[in-house]
Order: sequence, then structure tokens, then C-alpha cells
Amino acid sequence: MPNSAKPRVLTGDTPTGRLHLGHYVGSIENRLRLQDQYDCFFLLANMHAFTTRPDRHAEIRADTIEIVKDWLACGIDPSRSTIVLQTEVPAIAELTWYFAMLLPFNRVMRNPTLKDEIKDKGLGDTHSFGFPMYAVGQCADILAFRPRWVPVGEDQVAHIEMCREVARRFDITYCSVDSKADDQDFATLGGVFPIPEVMVGRVGRLIGTDGKQKMSKSLNNAIFLSDTPRQVKKKIGAMYPGQSRDPDQPGDPDINPVFDYADIFIKDEAFVADLRERYRKGDNLGDGHVKAFVIDAVNELLDPIRAKRAEYEGPGGDDTVIDIIRTGTAAANEVAEETLYMAKDAMGLGFGERTLEWE
Ligand code: TRP
Repeated sequence: MPNSAKPRVLTGDTPTGRLHLGHYVGSIENRLRLQDQYDCFFLLANMHAFTTRPDRHAEIRADTIEIVKDWLACGIDPSRSTIVLQTEVPAIAELTWYFAMLLPFNRVMRNPTLKDEIKDKGLGDTHSFGFPMYAVGQCADILAFRPRWVPVGEDQVAHIEMCREVARRFDITYCSVDSKADDQDFATLGGVFPIPEVMVGRVGRLIGTDGKQKMSKSLNNAIFLSDTPRQVKKKIGAMYPGQSRDPDQPGDPDINPVFDYADIFIKDEAFVADLRERYRKGDNLGDGHVKAFVIDAVNELLDPIRAKRAEYEGPGGDDTVIDIIRTGTAAANEVAEETLYMAKDAMGLGFGERTLEWE
């Protein structure tokens, strides 16, 4: 069960399909490491999924359950960590409103992550009013839990920076914290919100199988944690090695994205160094060979994940997942309601306690 004496960690995923290797090396590895030392909250940002797909509610529901299966398959353990369903934590939606008033409109619209998403997802200028709102909502996702750490991939850093800004503004405006105070002192100086810190994973930005852009479902260049060995083989097998060469001709491993994967997924560093050397010399090392080693390494990582996932794929699997979501969300509401109470009190909105029971 969550231990409230430990500092908290919060992070989450938007249910837009299954998780991929970019999520794994950017954030999941950190989450697994943090589970013992911290009181971890992992949020299913299902409300955010509605910002770009309001008409695809059935898909969003299915994706939400699939993401939990991915988490459990990776080793996120609901007996140690709390799994939170965003749409059943009303404090998050309430805090979003208050935070929206602390951020200049143009500050939100300048957020580079939002801009990239508008481009990558082809949203143009037709996106909903609610779409940029999710960035403000994300500040509330985080601050509702007053965490110390937020483990994310590099693409989320701009959001976390905005969240830190909101926390400072709130504490300065409503809790009389000195605007020149150091970030780490905000809580002891009476702020409701400690200033959380970002933690970027071992690989902040994993390149996709197109060898160009970051790995992302919307860019169609992702290897999913639930891909079969055959799918992994096919996707890596089809990667362009950045150049065309014969096995006995010198090549440049540095422009070959398959070597990025070799560095990240093959554990034996000396072996990878030797591959690079042979590739550079044209020492009888074909691109197919390099790919085969990478395919094996990725499958070795994914095999236990696939096996664990299978436990939840049979009959009753969804019910088990929904039970886990309900238990976690009930615990999460206790923390989020406490935060909301503190925040509203500081804002002069303390007109009595409310209770919110969710089962
Ligand atoms: N925006 C994040 C993503 O798309 C998901 C997310 C929602 C999140 N709320 C969060 C991440 C709070 C960290 C903290 O990956």
C-alpha cells in the first residue's frame, strides 16, 4: 500500500494506443526504479485523449485499459504504486481552472511541445479550445499530488517547466512566499505546492524506425512493447541504415540509426564498440547482421513483458485491470482532495470540508 511518509512521484501517459520503446527508455525504466523509494502515482490521462479525439470515446476507453496492461507487464506493481484514473479525480479538473488564471494565454500557446503536437498530428488551426487546455491540466495532474519528482521523456520537459511556474505563482500569490525564494524552500516558507523536479530517462528522445523523427505512434515509426517478435523483426529489418554500402566497404555507424538502437538495447558495450569498429572498416559486417543483433536485444527486453502481458489478455483480464484502477483512484482522491482543500483555503475559498467517496 502507498506509504505517505515517503516523498511522492507523479507521472502519467495519455491513452493514445499502446506504449512503445520510447516510453520505456524515456520514463518507464525510471518509474520501475522509483517504485520502492517513493510513493508513486501513475496517472491515466484519459481526459487528455479527448482533446484530440472527442468522438472516439470507445477507443479511448480501450486504450486506457491497454496502457494499464503495458504498465503491469513492465513491472509497475499496484501493491506498491497507485494507478490513477484522471477522469475520476475531480480535484484535477478544479485545480485546472484556478491554474488557468495564473498563466498568461500567450505563455501557454508558446509552449513548444504543444506546437510540435499541432504539427505532428496535423491539427493545423482547427484544434479544439480544449487542446491547449491540456497543458494547464497537466500542471494540475502533477500538483494535485505535490510530488517531488516527475519522471518523463524529453518531449514533456516544457510542460513540467510550466507546472513549476504555476506552483511558484500560486505560492507567491496565495501563500505569501517571497518571489525571490529558492525553489527548494517554497514548501517550508508556507507554500501549498513544493516545486517539483523533472527527471528525464536514460534516453530522453528515442529515434523512430524512420531514422529521422522521435518515436511516436502518430508518426507511424514506433515499436510497441506489445509487438510480436515477428513485428519487431520486420520493423527493424526495414530500417534505412543511413547509407548504402557493401559489407566489405567502410561505413559510418554514426549516421546509421540502427547503431543508436544497438547502443541503447545491447547490454554488452564492448560488443557494440567492436561492431562499430568493424562497420567502420568494412570488416565483413553487413547491415543485416547489425540488425539481427539489435532485433535479438529488443526481443530479449520485450519477452518477459510479453509474457506478463499475456496474463491480463485472457478472460477476466479487463476486470482485473478495472479493479486495480478503482482501488488506486480511491487512494489518489484522498491525496488530491487534501491538496484541493489546502489550495482553496489559501485562496480564501475555504467554506468547509467536503467528502468525496469513490468506489
Ligand atoms: N502529456 C503526457 C504525455 O503525453 C501525459 C501526461 C499527462 C503526464 N499528465 C501528466 C505526464 C502528468 C507527466 C505528468 O506523455
